[in-house]
Amino acid sequence: MALFSKKPAVRDEVDFSRLPRHIAIIMDGNGRWAKKRGLPRTAGHAAGAETFRTIATYCKDIGLDYLTVYAFSSENWKRPEEEVGTIMSLLKKYLLEAISRMERDKVKMEFFGDLSPLTPELRELCERTREISRHYEGCQVNVCLNYGGRDELVRAAKAFARDCAEGKGDPNHLTEEKFSGYLYSGGVPDPDLIIRTSGELRLSNFLLWQAAYSEFYITDVLWPDFSKEELHRAIASYQSRERRFGGV
Ligand code: IPE
Ligand code: IPE
Ligand code: MG
Repeated sequence: MALFSKKPAVRDEVDFSRLPRHIAIIMDGNGRWAKKRGLPRTAGHAAGAETFRTIATYCKDIGLDYLTVYAFSSENWKRPEEEVGTIMSLLKKYLLEAISRMERDKVKMEFFGDLSPLTPELRELCERTREISRHYEGCQVNVCLNYGGRDELVRAAKAFARDCAEGKGDPNHLTEEKFSGYLYSGGVPDPDLIIRTSGELRLSNFLLWQAAYSEFYITDVLWPDFSKEELHRAIASYQSRERRFGGV
């Protein structure tokens, strides 16, 4: 047993009084996690869903204002039907559970993405989750579902064009702030920190507009293995940086 100088826990390196306001996570690596264990990819998604539950609850507990997670991209439909089906049934399971615990957890849930291709049952569950939690204050969890950054921008442009056609908008007075209001994330501040698990160095169509000045933290840890400790590491790294926003 070590008597002296145990390496300080990463938790001690986090200043909880100045957390980022908004953390976004690209939860990648479920498939690799399963492969490493000789399991089907779907087992990786089940493990990943558990990690999401743990991390979302923890973010609420430490007082984070916004957590946005990439759960299913508009490109993920390219995957085998069985895998997509598993992801959708995990989502259903999670939403049913979230609804039953809502009164206790008081987490506000939002969904970013085009929900129209989901089954009516899933859409209804998303709507119910959103409705029940609408008035909760505290942590807001945004689940990106059938989300694509480019798709979001095209939809925003269309919505703005429609408003202009109806005389409710004027191209000459369009500002970045007004345009942001047309995005799924309207009203939510941009993510301060974007975490990507599993080591890939790309955005994969995530929050293209909102990521303009986000800090990035990329870890080789696979999403199902991501822990509170890893989150502390990401936040500590974020807190050690100087954000300049183009200034000096
Ligand atoms: C992320 O894990 C989950 C989704 C994209 C739905 P992956 O399934 O992409 O895992 P890898 O990248 O194949 O390891
Ligand atoms: C990004 O991961 C999407 C989600 C985590 C939901 P992908 O695994 O789909 O990204 P690529 O294909 O490696 O770029
Ligand atoms: Mg992946």
